[in-house]
Amino acid sequence: MPLHIQDMSQALFDTVQSLIDEIKAARPADQAELEQFRIRFLGSKNILKPLFGEIKQVENSRKKEYGQLVNEAKTLAEALFEELQANMKKEGQKAAFANLDLTAPGEPRPIGSRHPVSLVMQEMIDIFSRIGFTVADDREVEDDWHNFTAMNTPEDHPARDMQDTFYVVDAPKMVLRTHTSSVQARVMTSQKPPIRIVAPGRVYRNETISARSHCQFHQIEGLYIDEGVSFADLKQTLQYFVREFYGGDRQIRLRPSYFPFTEPSAEMDVYMGLNSEKDYRITKGTGWLEVLGCGMVDPAVLENCGIDPERYTGFAFGIGIERTAMLKYNIEDIRLMFENDVRFLRQFQSIV
Ligand code: PHE
Repeated sequence: MPLHIQDMSQALFDTVQSLIDEIKAARPADQAELEQFRIRFLGSKNILKPLFGEIKQVENSRKKEYGQLVNEAKTLAEALFEELQANMKKEGQKAAFANLDLTAPGEPRPIGSRHPVSLVMQEMIDIFSRIGFTVADDREVEDDWHNFTAMNTPEDHPARDMQDTFYVVDAPKMVLRTHTSSVQARVMTSQKPPIRIVAPGRVYRNETISARSHCQFHQIEGLYIDEGVSFADLKQTLQYFVREFYGGDRQIRLRPSYFPFTEPSAEMDVYMGLNSEKDYRITKGTGWLEVLGCGMVDPAVLENCGIDPERYTGFAFGIGIERTAMLKYNIEDIRLMFENDVRFLRQFQSIV
């Protein structure tokens, strides 16, 4: 074997050995230096890579030994890099912890608030539950029968007009309920009298959205069915509600009205007085505020729902929640109720 090959072999051995020494001695002080180390020994153009190829220059008897040495250099660099990296991470965490001020005051937790619609709805539920009404909850996507037909609303009634009702696409017999009166039909077809429920919930009407009206809003429905329920019971119940909700000895008045599902029907006004500019505005100068629709359940409705109208009578009422909440909390625009603007919602934080 010519001498120069031996020389070449030894030179390669020396290079690898000196790199091994360098790796063993390496003490990178920070992340940047560690990165330099990684690039030099483990990067895609690392210094060890070409040395693997140089094995063809090594004399045959020492090829195996050479290969092992370069591999050792690589393994060593990998192990050291991982160890150093783990150490640095630990040190970093320690340093971060050392800088922690454990006496610093904590971040205050943001307190949520109840929506004005929920506040009013819950207050009304509380008032009616005190005289024995329980809560009935039912679907918002309703079939035509429960929303209209059962409620004595004939096919050609204007309330069925496409203008007011949202129909479900491809399912013309399904609607977004236009009132919580649909729950009356749900309850009457599934429970036997005596029935005494309130049904709070969201309803939908295809109306132009403005400061005064929206295509979605909430109602609370009341229904009482038993033997011998009279119009006097309805009046007493409403008078009780108004005293509890509006306070004091407020007067109510019932004006004759029309709903397909009640007979007789009435609208109830509450006397707000004319003590302020606001009273004039909300009562249109009369002092009386319209609050709800009500009436005696039409015998045809009882019949539709399988309740004997010869034996049972009942009353029902429906109250709009948004309008009540707007008056109570001086909210000028109904759209605020559905925008979830935290600047609006936070104003109800202190009310439970
Ligand atoms: N459902 C009626 C409405 O949406 C209100 C109502 C309920 C009237 C119950 C009478 C009895 O306006």
